[in-house]
Amino acid sequence: MVRKRKARRGKKGNGKKNNVRLITKPKETISEIIKEPAFPQVIAIVSGKGGVGKTTTTANIGSVVSNKFEKKVLVIDGNVTTSNLGLQLGFLYPPVTLHDVLDGTITAKQSTYVHKSGLHVIPASLSVERDARYNEMSRAIDMLRVKYDLIIIDGAAGVGSEVKAAMRAADAILVITVPEIPTITASVKIIETAKKMKVPIAGIIVNRVKRKKHEISLSNIERVCHSPILAVIPEDNKVSESMNAKEPVVIFSPNSPASLAYQRLSSLIMGMKHRTGFFQSFLEKVYRIKHCKSKK
Ligand SMILES: Nc1ncnc2c1ncn2[C@@H]1O[C@H](COP(=O)(O)OP(=O)(O)OP(=O)(O)O)[C@@H](O)[C@H]1O
Ligand SMILES: [Mg+2]
Repeated sequence: MVRKRKARRGKKGNGKKNNVRLITKPKETISEIIKEPAFPQVIAIVSGKGGVGKTTTTANIGSVVSNKFEKKVLVIDGNVTTSNLGLQLGFLYPPVTLHDVLDGTITAKQSTYVHKSGLHVIPASLSVERDARYNEMSRAIDMLRVKYDLIIIDGAAGVGSEVKAAMRAADAILVITVPEIPTITASVKIIETAKKMKVPIAGIIVNRVKRKKHEISLSNIERVCHSPILAVIPEDNKVSESMNAKEPVVIFSPNSPASLAYQRLSSLIMGMKHRTGFFQSFLEKVYRIKHCKSKK
């Protein structure tokens, strides 16, 4: 709705800046975008710059698909040098980790933990001294495909070998960005790298959107990145609060603006129709009206 309105504004507007139409049709599913009949089973969440919300997005999509859609979901901390997925989900000192799996000393099953939400998690080691044989990632993940409906790899930032290993192991990538020039420029690099590697790009998620004038518009992000925006996740204090509770925000505060956006995104990923109850659609409407007003 917000995107439609923005696109319309861009078409009519006189400013060159907004005179760009969105590439994406709002109802496209990921399968349609990557031109595969089935939804991607292994998704790597990546970004050009760090700290933009990869881990948060991994944990939240994982929780929705596992809890709401009742699918078998595994999230893996593929950010092996600066891991934090385990931390966000409350696994502070896991005795065995992805590092052990990549070393070949244990099986992936032995390093799988179950979060109280039901989500399966393979954390990475927090030790700075531990090297990871990340080139083994594809092999380790391929062995898990039979067990899960969806596997999400929480990737590292940038275009280093670690990120490439996660992208190679995935069927498609999701690129997270925030609406700021340096991060968008870095997103272009990762999109180009994925194209060179022939890894399908499912789309972009624009996170921490405050709907302020200085933010880069969605249409410009799509134009620069040549990829569709799948979701816009608003800036939401509940996300930080949920972090302290070691719970994904979709569980901690299911009706918060970010949670509603994550629920929509998860439906899109799984090719499912997003069903909104009366209360939820009311909240979404209130949120949209509030932000459209603040834009004027
Ligand atoms: N929509 C949001 N609203 C408010 N805060 C957010 C939102 N998304 C993420 N954050 C906050 O941004 C910070 C970084 O998020 P996160 O750890 O998910 O980023 P990351 O891309 O995984 O970082 P890294 O590159 O270091 O792994 C966290 O403190 C998180 O609470
Ligand atoms: Mg992270």
